[in-house]
Amino acid sequence: MAPELPEIDTERPNAARMYDYFLGGAHHFAADRAQADLVAARMPEIVTVARANRDFLGRVVTWCLGQGIRQFLDLGSGVPTVGNVHEIAQRHDPAARVAYVDVEPVAAAHARQILAEVEGATATRADLRDVDAVLTAASALLDLGEPVAVLAVAVLHFVPDDPEPVADVLARYRARLAPGSVLALSHSSADQDDPELAARVRAGIDAYRGTASEPTRRDRTAVRALLGDLELVPPGVVDVVHWPTPHPTAAATGLYAAVGRASANPG
Ligand SMILES: C[S@@+](CC[C@H](N)C(=O)[O-])C[C@H]1O[C@@H](n2cnc3c(N)ncnc32)[C@H](O)[C@@H]1O
Repeated sequence: MAPELPEIDTERPNAARMYDYFLGGAHHFAADRAQADLVAARMPEIVTVARANRDFLGRVVTWCLGQGIRQFLDLGSGVPTVGNVHEIAQRHDPAARVAYVDVEPVAAAHARQILAEVEGATATRADLRDVDAVLTAASALLDLGEPVAVLAVAVLHFVPDDPEPVADVLARYRARLAPGSVLALSHSSADQDDPELAARVRAGIDAYRGTASEPTRRDRTAVRALLGDLELVPPGVVDVVHWPTPHPTAAATGLYAAVGRASANPG
């Protein structure tokens, strides 16, 4: 059964709007700001982490473009902000196409509004677990017979494994994608080598409990498992600041990056 889409609830903090607040956007309510401040009290580097995640998104889109991919399916795309996927992709190739998907009504409405005049980009309000609905909407724009980069950036830690394990949800996407397609994700995790960072990440994640965006903890092994049988792109599962190359000075964020590719020559 398809998951129900939530109504706008300004009283209940929501990850999309809290993230927009961290990034300095304007689409949040008092309840979002109060909860975001609680996260920041527990994990003071959260604004830097949000920006580092956004930078990773930009790098992975650029990397996909370098691989010849011109189609993007951005799951949990958030409230549009600086460095949107279509801006990066269409700067590189005006013919690039981007289908945005988010479950949160404010994020989806704002995305529709800014995309009204943009060729080659659409915004759909859907739960990413509703794979058929997402792919039906996306295929109005994307040719699923050609490689697609599926982006699930900073979203899957808000998607529980019940009633269906997220790895199985992603497997349903992979089954519909052409060879050469990519699945790129970032995922918050508390199994960091640095025990102090791990403790702050755990406290930060826990501060989302009771919000509209219940967090799910996954360790590095579970994050790798989300890619299933895709070929893991080097450097593997690393902190977002070190993807695709190690950053000499950036502090770790507690967000893992993982990118998998469907073999272009299956068999
Ligand atoms: C932290 S934001 C990340 C936004 C963007 N991907 C980025 O990394 O900059 C997480 C987003 O995932 C969305 N989200 C959470 N659960 C979702 C679901 N089941 N289906 C679709 N979107 C979801 C939230 O509404 C929110 O906009």
